[in-house]
Formats: sequence, C-alpha cells, structure tokens
Amino acid sequence: MTIYRANLIDTPTPESFRMVEHGYIAVTDEGRVEGVYTTLPDGLSRYSIVDYGDRLLIPAFNDLHVHAPQYRNLGLALDLELLPWLQTYTFPEESKFTDLAYAGRIYRRFVHELWMQGTMRSSVFATSHFAATKCLADIFLLSGMGAKIGQVAMNRDCPEALHVSTEQMVQGLTDLKHYLDENGRDGLVEPIVTPRFVPSCTRDMLEQLGKVAQTYHLPVQSHLSENLGEIELVKQLEPASSCYGEVYNRYGLFGQQPTLMAHCCHTDGEEFELLKRNGVIVVHCPMSNSNLASGVAPVRRFLNAGIQVALGTDVSGGHNMSMLRAIQYAIQVSKVQYTRTNHEMAFLAASEAFYLATKAGGAFFGKVGCFEPGYEFDALLIDDGYLNYDNYTLQQRMERYIYLGDDRDIRRRFCRGKELCEPVL
Ligand code: GUN
Ligand code: FE
Repeated sequence: MTIYRANLIDTPTPESFRMVEHGYIAVTDEGRVEGVYTTLPDGLSRYSIVDYGDRLLIPAFNDLHVHAPQYRNLGLALDLELLPWLQTYTFPEESKFTDLAYAGRIYRRFVHELWMQGTMRSSVFATSHFAATKCLADIFLLSGMGAKIGQVAMNRDCPEALHVSTEQMVQGLTDLKHYLDENGRDGLVEPIVTPRFVPSCTRDMLEQLGKVAQTYHLPVQSHLSENLGEIELVKQLEPASSCYGEVYNRYGLFGQQPTLMAHCCHTDGEEFELLKRNGVIVVHCPMSNSNLASGVAPVRRFLNAGIQVALGTDVSGGHNMSMLRAIQYAIQVSKVQYTRTNHEMAFLAASEAFYLATKAGGAFFGKVGCFEPGYEFDALLIDDGYLNYDNYTLQQRMERYIYLGDDRDIRRRFCRGKELCEPVL
C-alpha cells in the first residue's frame, strides 16, 4: 500500500468536482485505489505517507480519438474541409509510414508528448501499415501508458501507399491481437478494429472487420457524420442504407462490441436512435470540428438521452495534444451552441467537461478515470503555484488550471499505480 497526501480532486459524477482538501488516497500494490480519506483511518497508519503539500492530485486524462501518424501536421493544413483535407494533406503524410524508420521517429515523439500532456490512456489510429502499427504498440509498451491501437483499414479511394487488402487487414489484426495477448501487459495495450470511415472501406472490408471484431471480442473505432460533404458521399456510396451509422451497424461495427464513433456532428433522427439503442460511445472532438469547419456536435442532446460521450483531440484535425485544450474547447463550443439554440442546449459546466476527459473516457479502459475505490490509480500531480498566488478556493484553482494550465504544471504522472518517469524513446 502507498498513501499519497495532496488536494484530491476528481469527478465521480459530472455535476460537480469532488474536492478533498489535504486528503489522503491509499493505493494498493496492484495499483488500485483503496479509498480517499480526510483523516487517515487507524488501519492505514502503519504505512508511510508521500506528502505532496498543497499541490493538486487529479485523475490523468484519456484521449479517446487521436491519429498518431498525423503528429507532424499539428497546427498545419487547417484551411480545407474534411474530404479535400484528407486527400491534400493527411493521406500524403500517412503514406510516409511505409518507411519504418520514419514511423519510429514520429511515433516516439507522439508517445512522448502524450506522456508530457498527462494523457495516460488513448485510443489511437495508426496507419494502414502493419509494421509501423506494431512499432507504435512497442513504443507504448515501453512507455508504460495504456492504449488501444488501430491499424487503419482502407481499401477504397486512397493512394496506393495506403491501400491495404481485406486479407492483409484480417491478418494484421489477428497478428497484433496474438502479439499483444502475449506482450500487452495485461491488456494495457490492446488492438482495436479501425475502419477509417465508410468512404475508405468496401463492403467486403467492413464485413470481414465485423467478423474479426466478434470472433476476438475486439473493440471498434471509426468516424461518423463529421462533415456534410462526407455524409453526402456516404449516401451516394451506400444508397440502400437509411443512415450513415446503419452501414457500420449492418456489418456488426456499431456497438456489437464496445464502439467509439468520433465526431457525430450531424447525427440526428434514426442515427441518433440507433446510436442510443446500441450503446455506441460518441467521441466529441471540438478542436477538430472547429478547425475543419465540420460543425458542432449536439453533446447536450446525447447526454440528455443517456448516450455515453467521451472527449478526443483528433490530432491533427485538432491542433493540440493537450486534453486541457479539448476540455476548454468543449465548454466554449457548447456555449456557442447554447446561444444558437435559444438556450435549448445547456452549456457544459467545467466539471462536466472534466468528467468527459477523465471518467467517461476512462470507462473504455476498465475502471479508470476517478478516485473511487477499485479504480486504477491513473493520476497527475499538478503544481499550480504560479496561478495560485492569492486565496483561491480549490474549485477556483481547478477552473484556473483548466483554462490557464499546461504540461509544465504536471510534476508527476501515474498509470495503473506506477509512477511513469519521462520515457527515453
Ligand atoms: N475521417 C476519416 N479520416 C479522418 C481523419 O484522419 N481525421 C478526421 N478528422 N476525420 C477523418
Ligand atoms: Fe479522426
């Protein structure tokens, strides 16, 4: 058992921050939270205490949608909408990942930055290349952080360098699964079935991916109803489907296994109902949706309907690896939406957006994302001394950290109870 003392802040529920001033958190040797206490119970008094003084201890962040091979394009190429953006900037960059040396160089930087930003778990799109994808998995394994790793399926309307056949994809998924069964550190790093999106995949590809997902009980991630041009294209390609989501659903890629659908900016009507019925998780990517002028996802409607929503950076549609910036954008675009819907969609409170980035996203990885008993201890120690120069309350310190904080404030990072020092990758 290890006991840490600090100002403990988390969101067991979205409505408010739970704050324990100078509290204690006991963590078992297996890396799970035993409990949070205002005064230390007698039974725990024999353990030594790691005292972090007046600093904040918060759950680490979980990025549920991010493209590792787009790391080099961060902050670039944000002058087009989705479909031309993919063809002009994104596919050419991803094509470079046929070169394993290049892939290793960029992926090491990418994983290092996740560590820097305090994102201890992520659900990642790699590229369509098996060797580079396995290389990414190996870098995660070295880092000690958790990840779902997706070799990206695409066999339609893409450059030759990104084209992968259905057989190669099925083989790649099977091989990565077996490799990570052996080496994945008890599920810390796992494969995820990743059709890029409907326009990139033939029916045969989707059908086979659905079969692999059911056979091995693998989770699924993709993109859904991000951009109006994309939705129009899907209608042309799949005229028999009643909505975009129905295409995935037909092939068992829509909630039959745990499923993440990024964006959902324009999801309504039948697609909304299907999403809800199937328990599909929406990944809200507000930075990306602003940058690519895709729209604003109806997050409040999803939440009111009981649909699970998590948060993603969607780098490099999103221009920043920090989940703090994703939280901030989520709040800000929700306020734009609030004014544009005549106050029908209430805007997100800071605690709600923080919940999306921690506990809501963490649920995809098991018991992750808050400090309730039994949860894996994924945490960040925050030194906000330079922001906290007057008599701010803990609530105010948390709000200021969300808007003004960055990676420099993170002093320690824990994943599954283990402190992760800066990875030398
Ligand atoms: N839809 C299909 N591929 C992508 C991608 O790489 N980024 C985003 N934002 N949307 C996509
Ligand atoms: Fe994306």
